[in-house]
Amino acid sequence: MENREFLNKMQLKKFTCRVSGNPLEEVVNLGRQPLGNGFVEEPFGKNEFFYSMSCGFDSQSGMFQLLQQPEPSTMFHQNYAFLSSTSTSMVRHFSNVATTLCERYLGGNLDPLVVEIGCNDGVFLQNIAHRGYRHIGVEPSENVALIAKAKGLNIYNSFFSHDLACEIKSSLGKCDLIYAANVMCHIPEINDVFRAVESLIADDGVFVFEDPYLGDVIERNSYDQIYDEHVFLFSAISIDYLCKQHGLELINLEKVWTHGGSMRYHIAKEGRHAKSESVTIQVKTELKLGLARVDTYFEFAERVKTSRLELLSLLSCAREQGKVVYAYGATSKSTTIYNYCGIDSSLISRIVDNTPTKIGKYSPGVHIPISDRNDPSLAAPDLYFLAAWNHREEIMSKEKNLLSRGVKFITHVPRVGYIND
Ligand code: TYD
Repeated sequence: MENREFLNKMQLKKFTCRVSGNPLEEVVNLGRQPLGNGFVEEPFGKNEFFYSMSCGFDSQSGMFQLLQQPEPSTMFHQNYAFLSSTSTSMVRHFSNVATTLCERYLGGNLDPLVVEIGCNDGVFLQNIAHRGYRHIGVEPSENVALIAKAKGLNIYNSFFSHDLACEIKSSLGKCDLIYAANVMCHIPEINDVFRAVESLIADDGVFVFEDPYLGDVIERNSYDQIYDEHVFLFSAISIDYLCKQHGLELINLEKVWTHGGSMRYHIAKEGRHAKSESVTIQVKTELKLGLARVDTYFEFAERVKTSRLELLSLLSCAREQGKVVYAYGATSKSTTIYNYCGIDSSLISRIVDNTPTKIGKYSPGVHIPISDRNDPSLAAPDLYFLAAWNHREEIMSKEKNLLSRGVKFITHVPRVGYIND
């Protein structure tokens, strides 16, 4: 669909909560944005996709969500740029999650079936397959699905839906564990997926998923978690509500360090598993933080505006002093920052990254060139903007040499400033 056609259609639309159906009030507006993962090549076409990105909040469901989202097929296509296995700490993370979940939920089960929704390149599912368990990965992006298949994993190259759940159920039966990481927040038809989960899990089965956590976004001002793929940012309050609409129950919660602050939700059929105290405690914490009140999001929007001004001022000062500034990590998140703040290659002249599918391309919208971090011909800059701030520890420890040579890093989370001053 042409950009203009899409925008016109959206302007006419009244936005409603994807969970409750209530009208949505706009709380945060981040302006004209391209796709977060829409890295482009030269020559730049006129057809780069842009849309107006703003968020709404519904006090009944507690869902913080994008008002409009490009078609899923625009985002998750055959050239999807994100590969889960590019970070060593993420590889370790998924291996640990698999061990914990298998021990906790599959221990006494002789022939369990595990389904992963949005399995990417198989970074989690390979740990299930190694245990000899029956498994299915569902992955809509063809290029990453092929990598998972090449690892010998059983993959459906499609979107997860109620129809697909029925197909899996009729060929393999009900499943014991459904897992999803950084996927559920991408799915606009969340009611359909919860319905599908309810029908696919066995009576004592469990659905576990983890996603960037709304409470962290509000507390850390990490507004870059908002981009086209993240149609929702969840909280315990909103997931508790969603479960209740589908005969499911939120039975446990765990804070997770990934993606700059995530939450892992454990869900089962109503009344089938004991409910941990963590759920009540977290809901109380969220109520105190104001996550159920619309005012909280208007205040957040004001802090986002301040963050923009501070980042622009810091980068403009660096430019006036003749400093070379690069960004570290061609993240989807940073697409939001560059396009919202108006940061182009005059302020950040280059992005470095280690992902082969991004190197040689340009960042979406503002077209900052992306180079291989390990390219020996690339001189170090004076300053790095830590776009991949969610991997801060891994990057800081691997870049000790740079730090000792006086290269500085800046961040915008939770405040704009220098990391190593
Ligand atoms: P990611 O954490 O997936 O963020 P997003 O979901 O916003 O895209 O992306 C991290 C990016 O940073 C990814 O492109 C890989 C890159 N990266 C490096 O180049 N070097 C590193 O050491 C690490 C940890 C990541």
